[in-house]
Amino acid sequence: MAAYTLLRPRRGLSLLCIIATLSFGVIFMLWYGMNSDRDYIHPILTQLIPAGHCACQTSTTFQCSTCLSCPETGLQHDDTAPGWTFEYARDGRNEALDQQQCKAAFPGLFEDIARGGKFWSQHGGLSTAELDTIPVQLGMARAFISNGELYVVAARSKGEDHRRKILGTLSSIHRALAADPERASRRDIEFVFSVEDKVEDVTNPDWPVWVFSRTPNEEGVWLMPDFSFWAWDNPNNYIGPYDQVVDRIRRLDIPWAEKKPQLVWRGKPSFAPKLRRALIEAARGKPWGDVKQVDWSTGENVLKMEDHCHYMFIAHVEGRSYSASLKYRQACNSVIVAHKLQFIQHHHYLLVADGPNQNYVEVERDFSDLADKIEPLVNDTERARLIANNSVTTFRERYLTSAAKACYWRSLLDGYAGVWNSTVEQWSESTQRERGLRYESFVLLETPKMFQFDAAATQAWQG
Ligand SMILES: *[C@@H]1O[C@H](CO)[C@@H](O)[C@H](O)[C@H]1NC(C)=O
Ligand SMILES: *[C@@H]1O[C@H](CO)[C@@H](O)[C@H](O)[C@H]1NC(C)=O
Ligand SMILES: *[C@@H]1O[C@H](CO)[C@@H](O)[C@H](O)[C@H]1NC(C)=O
Repeated sequence: MAAYTLLRPRRGLSLLCIIATLSFGVIFMLWYGMNSDRDYIHPILTQLIPAGHCACQTSTTFQCSTCLSCPETGLQHDDTAPGWTFEYARDGRNEALDQQQCKAAFPGLFEDIARGGKFWSQHGGLSTAELDTIPVQLGMARAFISNGELYVVAARSKGEDHRRKILGTLSSIHRALAADPERASRRDIEFVFSVEDKVEDVTNPDWPVWVFSRTPNEEGVWLMPDFSFWAWDNPNNYIGPYDQVVDRIRRLDIPWAEKKPQLVWRGKPSFAPKLRRALIEAARGKPWGDVKQVDWSTGENVLKMEDHCHYMFIAHVEGRSYSASLKYRQACNSVIVAHKLQFIQHHHYLLVADGPNQNYVEVERDFSDLADKIEPLVNDTERARLIANNSVTTFRERYLTSAAKACYWRSLLDGYAGVWNSTVEQWSESTQRERGLRYESFVLLETPKMFQFDAAATQAWQG
């Protein structure tokens, strides 16, 4: 009897132990699957990895009516410049195209602005009262344009990354304004923007915040060109302004016939394990696959951005949100192979997945059709060459030029002004101060003062 009573609790304990060990094991395996950057982890584990934020089934493919597939004549609306057409070599760097020229040069570029305008006119327009309800979180800023000049009301940064992205965004707006021949007669507007990767990181989709990317059901936000068009420079990584990267890549352009007929991808699987591991598995052991995980600490498998252009096919995968690297891949004269994208950026409307204007190859989010889509193109590289040529002429030489970027920014200011239903005051009666600090002065502030900037609390103009 004694032995029996002794055994019972021990059996119970050991069962608990087994359960605990097993669950710890499962949790550890999942953690390992999500965080490992090893080349290979067991397929059962890749199945088990939770989809998390980046493998939901929704994605966006645009069928927009005003885009690339329109016959040229269809674009000649009354309000476009008659007889003027965009020429990359002549106009690509011209940030001062007028409104008619912008419309003629970049049909389809302004889709998301039209969408945002429609959304807010159906929701009663925008006013200062709405903006006042939006908390300016870390990674956000509030600014206004008055008499064509840019003012900063508040700006908050968690660190250097936020500060640089906020400065880059303000600078892009300032530059688009400076090049505008109609600047002095612009309508005044006030707005809030976020430089965080995702809307939900800092704000919510019911507010009219300007963001770098949105998902299809985040309808209140407005899309602006991401920070890397200004420059992707952080202390560990100086890439430079986008147009300078394009110049470097163009200098190294190699003829199509000299490119490797392979699909290249380098990255860290742990940034989006479900998506990225699916790509690694789909390309494993294939003669056309050159897909590898990188180790930044040892430099293993690292491939310079411009060296990606030595391949005919370049894979693009989202990270925890949109991936700003799409535009660099599009600068190569190569075929972009992307899974169905969940996060929309301002130029995504121009992606065409089939037909004569096809400018990229779209595969499922689990890459299950990767081989079926790639193999015919590896076999018939002439077809692939046409897709690459469409990609370069559409993106590098048109919709991603400095001219297009400036047109987009001004169109955003105009579209937003179309639903802006308030005056913008330069002077605050309640605080007896100027409400904003001019951009020209803001960029001269010492760095620590930019981290938590609030014009209403700034003492400089007292006295
Ligand atoms: C602007 O605000 C006024 C008064 O609040 C309102 O009557 C009008 O409908 C608004 N206009 C738009 C375009 O929302
Ligand atoms: C590759 O091309 C050859 C000849 O052009 C054709 O017979 C074959 O079916 C193609 N294979 C694939 C997988 O498309
Ligand atoms: C794309 O094709 C056009 C027409 O064939 C050609 O003029 C142009 O040089 C090509 N662009 C590139 C980057 O190969």
